[in-house]
Amino acid sequence: MEQYVIKGGNPLVGEVEIGGAKNAALAILAASIMTDETVTIENLPNVRDINALLEAMAEIGARIDRTDAHTVKISGAFVKDVPVDYESMKKIRASYYLLGALLGKYKRAEVILPGGCNIGSRPMDLHIKGFRALGADVEIRGGAVAASARHLRGSHIYLDKVSVGATINIMMAASMAEGKTIIENAAKEPHVVDVANFLNSMGANIRGAGTDVIRIVGVEKLHRTEYSIIPDQIEAGTFMFAAAATKGDVMVKNVIPKHLEATTAKLLEIGCEVEEFDDAVRVVASKPLRNTQVTTLPYPGFPTDMQPQMTVLLGIATGVSTVTESIFENRFKYVDELTRMGAAIKVESSIAIITGVDRYMGARVSAPDLRAGAALVIAGLAAEGITIVDDIYYIQRGYENFEGKLRGLGAQIELVSSEKELQKFRLKVS
Ligand code: UD1
Repeated sequence: MEQYVIKGGNPLVGEVEIGGAKNAALAILAASIMTDETVTIENLPNVRDINALLEAMAEIGARIDRTDAHTVKISGAFVKDVPVDYESMKKIRASYYLLGALLGKYKRAEVILPGGCNIGSRPMDLHIKGFRALGADVEIRGGAVAASARHLRGSHIYLDKVSVGATINIMMAASMAEGKTIIENAAKEPHVVDVANFLNSMGANIRGAGTDVIRIVGVEKLHRTEYSIIPDQIEAGTFMFAAAATKGDVMVKNVIPKHLEATTAKLLEIGCEVEEFDDAVRVVASKPLRNTQVTTLPYPGFPTDMQPQMTVLLGIATGVSTVTESIFENRFKYVDELTRMGAAIKVESSIAIITGVDRYMGARVSAPDLRAGAALVIAGLAAEGITIVDDIYYIQRGYENFEGKLRGLGAQIELVSSEKELQKFRLKVS
């Protein structure tokens, strides 16, 4: 069983390169099978979720040619429309994007219901509502979602709640429906825009992505493209917060600073300096961190995927802070782990009330999900003594070479897979 072992206390200093956005890549990979021609995708993050989706796509007949760790050529010419009920599908929640892609292309799709991070109930009612509005019959049977339509027809769809997944899924299916679709109250996340840009580069006709009204005119066919995925705003934010938590000075490179505005604003509020460049941000934390209030919101609000990292920072800021989670229920499961490192946090329904402590103390903790796992690593980097993080499988779902990138900034962190390696690390750092 792999673990991270961390000796905390070193300020992170130096430069780190951010990879492609996992959440954009998942949807773009699924969308790539909507043409029979070969699609080339660059700046692909080499993480478990991506590899799981590629495996699932290969199982349904996609030809996957991984030309290097960050580039893949995909041909959807031999993809089977249904059923997509293999084990690999269950491993990853984003396999639901194959529904929109297959429904658009073949007017039929069946995909096993998603797994993924366990952060509260994550229904699919809005995806299904959208598919039905486009004229599909949708049934949930035997743990799978089955959708089929004689004709997919453009429609006017209002999403009751802002949903990234539903916006993208409907956008994909509507790209190959007959006529015009309007999605209102659409998600505005950078990866929604990236998926729209990708589909447009394949010949789709999508306007308005990045605003709350997306207009799509369906086309009959999509064609080959070469596309480079945008940088991962959450990976970038995680390193920015790691710099802040360790009183460091880090240049986070290959980012789009505009996508990081909510993250940057909070760092400034709590007393860090943030310098923006064309495609980089530098975070310097030379003063003590101050308390603040944060509420997670759909983009351009503060991202829920940065919520645990924010709590970790505020846990060692002066004064009392609050973090309100407004997107997902049950996203504070990591707080118990953080408490074992000395944090003083009380969770009342969707609000964490945080009384800053001087420092965290190293402990053995376990990652309850992807982002909370990364947040516990940040706590370990800031802590006095040694922290062991279990269940790092979750972290590897979304962070490429996390330990290597952190070591490049001077962190003492090792991925170990045995008690012997753990002892070796202890000896090395003692
Ligand atoms: C995506 C991201 C995830 C991020 C989240 C919010 C991917 C693979 N995952 O997840 O990392 O935390 O956006 O930015 O891109 N909802 C419904 N009905 C639905 C769909 C969603 O009620 O049919 C609710 C959810 O329960 C949640 C809210 O809408 O409360 C937002 O969810 P959504 O934006 O859909 O998240 P995901 O696409 O699952």
